[in-house]
Amino acid sequence: MAHHSIFSEFGLGMPTIKVSTVTRERLLRAARKVMKNAYAPFSNFRVGAAILTSKGQVFVGCNVENSSYGMTNCAERTAIFSAIAKHGPKLEIRAVAVANDHGVPCSPCGACRQVIYEFGPRAIVFYEGKKGPKQSLITDLLPEGFRLK
Ligand code: THU
Repeated sequence: MAHHSIFSEFGLGMPTIKVSTVTRERLLRAARKVMKNAYAPFSNFRVGAAILTSKGQVFVGCNVENSSYGMTNCAERTAIFSAIAKHGPKLEIRAVAVANDHGVPCSPCGACRQVIYEFGPRAIVFYEGKKGPKQSLITDLLPEGFRLK
């Protein structure tokens, strides 16, 4: 595979997506910025997310809570739905970055993992882990993700 490929291979597994340090920092910066727009009067926990598409575009989202708690939309899904609203359903997610205003561990919730997987089965996720900044493949966060095909 060409050196400049966005994929890197190790072993015999699926090619994995490569995201440069510069791009990762750009995504995390965008996530931290949009976090400030969150509507989070119930949890007071503001979250921002930025996704990188296969076309190199970045979309952002924040959490939007509701008096009917279960209607809350997480930052990750807001970013993904916003990308689709803008450019249609052919979204391919390469990477997702998540930030929160408490500086605490915060990986995407189970529902968001499934939504990320739908559009980015090889996506790499940058988030705050229990021991600091972390990155995981979506397939490690969500083994056996559901696909209706
Ligand atoms: N939340 C997100 O937006 N993303 C995550 O990855 C974790 C949780 C939001 C949902 C809710 O508004 C608040 O954080 C507290 O759970």
